[in-house]
Amino acid sequence: MALHLVDHPLIRHKVGLLRQHDISTSHFRTLANEITRLLTYEATKDFETEKKTIKGWAGKVEVDRIKGKKVTVVPILRAGLGMMDGVYDMIPGAKASVVGFYRNEETLEPVQYYVKLAKRIEERMALILDPMLATGGTLNATIKLLKEAGCQSIRGLFLCAAPEGIERILNEHPDVDIYTAAVDERLNDVGYIIPGLGDAGDKIFG
Ligand code: PRP
Repeated sequence: MALHLVDHPLIRHKVGLLRQHDISTSHFRTLANEITRLLTYEATKDFETEKKTIKGWAGKVEVDRIKGKKVTVVPILRAGLGMMDGVYDMIPGAKASVVGFYRNEETLEPVQYYVKLAKRIEERMALILDPMLATGGTLNATIKLLKEAGCQSIRGLFLCAAPEGIERILNEHPDVDIYTAAVDERLNDVGYIIPGLGDAGDKIFG
């Protein structure tokens, strides 16, 4: 696995706006999707293209098309839904696979409550969406679920990640790539990222 900290002035600026304690729900959602577009741009930059000849305004012209890449976008309920539009803006044909987990706030273990995967997931690259990578428990459970379903290519997009969660996924899933807009300092004693964004689910859904 590789960690990709997507370090860009626009992203650093927008993550800074997300951290504002009294940010409105609508502003948080807008920024989350804007950042996700930029993460998607970065996470797809190795996609292969092929040549295709089309009829242009001045006759035949050779253009590039993405080569046979099938993608499934995997929002982790709830908060991952707040990043969906950002991916769809860039990859409108992506099929969705939806998984639901909440974190038991005492044990910090993920609890699964919903799964609906796209057809032929084994042929697709999965782009997991979740604003927060904290202990890594939720991401680990999602990756396992996707691998058990036959998925062979998995990437995760995050707005904010803690070193503890990154290290866990690095160790347990060396084949998975993580794209994050920020790597924060640490987790606090109740598993929240510091400085973090607060509860992203609450910020997105109000
Ligand atoms: C948050 C977040 C991740 C998870 C991260 O979800 O969106 O899914 O916690 O924590 P972890 O890395 O320690 O597993 P939450 O449980 O708050 O659910 P929600 O999205 O429904 O608000």
